[in-house]
Amino acid sequence: MTAPASPTKVRGETILSVDNVVKHFPISRGVLFQKQIGAVKAVDGVSFELRRGETLGVVGESGCGKSTLARLLMRLETPTSGRATLEGRDLFKASGSELRRLRRNMQMVMQDPYTSLNPRMTVGDIIGEPFEIHPDAAPKGSKRKRVQELLDVVGLNPEHVNRYPHQFSGGQRQRIGIARALALRPEVIVCDEPVSALDVSIQAQVINLLEQLQDEFGLSYIFIAHDLSVVRHISDRVAVMYLGKIVEIGTEEEIYERATHPYTQALLSAVPVPDPEAREDRGIIRLTGDVPSPADPPSGCRFRTRCWKAQEVCATQEPHTVLRAADPHPSACHFAEVRPGA
Ligand SMILES: Nc1ncnc2c1ncn2[C@@H]1O[C@H](COP(=O)(O)OP(=O)(O)O)[C@@H](O)[C@H]1O
Ligand SMILES: [Mg+2]
Repeated sequence: MTAPASPTKVRGETILSVDNVVKHFPISRGVLFQKQIGAVKAVDGVSFELRRGETLGVVGESGCGKSTLARLLMRLETPTSGRATLEGRDLFKASGSELRRLRRNMQMVMQDPYTSLNPRMTVGDIIGEPFEIHPDAAPKGSKRKRVQELLDVVGLNPEHVNRYPHQFSGGQRQRIGIARALALRPEVIVCDEPVSALDVSIQAQVINLLEQLQDEFGLSYIFIAHDLSVVRHISDRVAVMYLGKIVEIGTEEEIYERATHPYTQALLSAVPVPDPEAREDRGIIRLTGDVPSPADPPSGCRFRTRCWKAQEVCATQEPHTVLRAADPHPSACHFAEVRPGA
């Protein structure tokens, strides 16, 4: 397989740009005359850039809007508002052949390898399915040969092309999902919790495979996870989401060494460290309570109901991103600062 990136494509330039994207799911009541009585603010003004060849980790507790964001980028959901561009082309306005081209260029790996593969299709048909949907991207020669090549690329036996998903382990099924995502030679892959359903012992193998494929094919990843420990190794930058918003975004080092948002600090505090004493020294922050409902998020700062630093201003004023002189990575907190001893 040849790498999709041509020499004119510069590593590090912006490939995907997301600007103030919003997705509100209407809540309706009434059987005959449905009346909208509210909205689930699943994604509520998200902006970021993905650079060519990098991995952007997206982290946050369950329900904070990560999958909705992924589905919006894949055009599986229609945004309420906002804009996104892939290689400068408007992702949300594209239709017809333009949309098909964009879709080919951005693929997704789903969370659950047990339910995302059709049990009645052979792996050959599953991996080859994108060629049926995009005949113009189908290999010139034998499709079967190309599918076998893809099996080999993800570390599976090419001779198993006629087997069914149930004949593979969870980790192998996720490799099948990855092979399918690679079939059309995309440049961007959105990985929605690709290892969350797998045994811890298998997680590292799948992450290593993704890294190896990234190097080989110059891929850019959005890598979604619900905790910070999973994404550290693979991410160049990390965005932390809470109730539909990015609260802090920075390089791997900025987030893991110098986080300034209390929510990030709380998530970090839950990450197991090799030296438990060091963790005790740092002090453990325990998040109390559940994530509030995205249908009725708290006023001001959405995190304030669970934040130990919250003061009056947090209830009345939404914190906009602050760039501290000492460490100017964006953090949406009125009291953003590095935790002493962090
Ligand atoms: N199709 C939908 N209709 C209504 N609400 C939805 C829909 N999809 C997701 N939600 C809600 O949006 C919020 C964010 O969900 P999701 O994006 O799946 O979060 P995450 O992936 O971070 O766990 C949740 O409150 C969820 O219930
Ligand atoms: Mg999800």
